[in-house]
Amino acid sequence: MSTAVVYYSFTNHTREYAKTLAAQLDAPLIELAPPKPLSKLGAYLRGCPAAIGGKSWKTAAEPDFAAYDKLIFCSPIWASNVPPYVNYALGLLPEGKHVEFRLVSAGGKSNCAERLTATVAARGCVVDGIEDIQG
Ligand SMILES: Cc1cc2nc3c(=O)[nH]c(=O)nc-3n(C[C@H](O)[C@H](O)[C@H](O)COP(=O)(O)O)c2cc1C
Repeated sequence: MSTAVVYYSFTNHTREYAKTLAAQLDAPLIELAPPKPLSKLGAYLRGCPAAIGGKSWKTAAEPDFAAYDKLIFCSPIWASNVPPYVNYALGLLPEGKHVEFRLVSAGGKSNCAERLTATVAARGCVVDGIEDIQG
């Protein structure tokens, strides 16, 4: 099964995690980069409400997932949810992919498993696992 590691990171914790995972799996890394840098204030004042609302924010480039059977999404947790850049990428999943989530947060707890599972299912894909990581 061909696998890629997909990640968004605001303060580099998830980037380091995703890099290590990709090296372990010998898998390519796909970064979800914002079109322009987000300020800390922007992340809290606009990013958190957007994350809670399940909103999507476009990334600088459209990730292409076509070549892979499995995508492992590594994401920070914002207000118990995934950041809007991750929602955008999930909206681009082609049908039939296997998806895993590694959710990196200060508290090691997220509250979005149901939503992520529904989002992935709506794309005709299947969630193989969701793991909370404290980091
Ligand atoms: C805007 C924002 C909201 C956050 N919300 C939460 C939260 O709800 N729960 C939590 O445990 N950590 C929260 N954190 C902490 C991050 O999830 C944690 O520091 C994570 O490691 C950041 O990953 P990154 O460095 O890849 O961006 C938040 C951080 C930011 C910037």
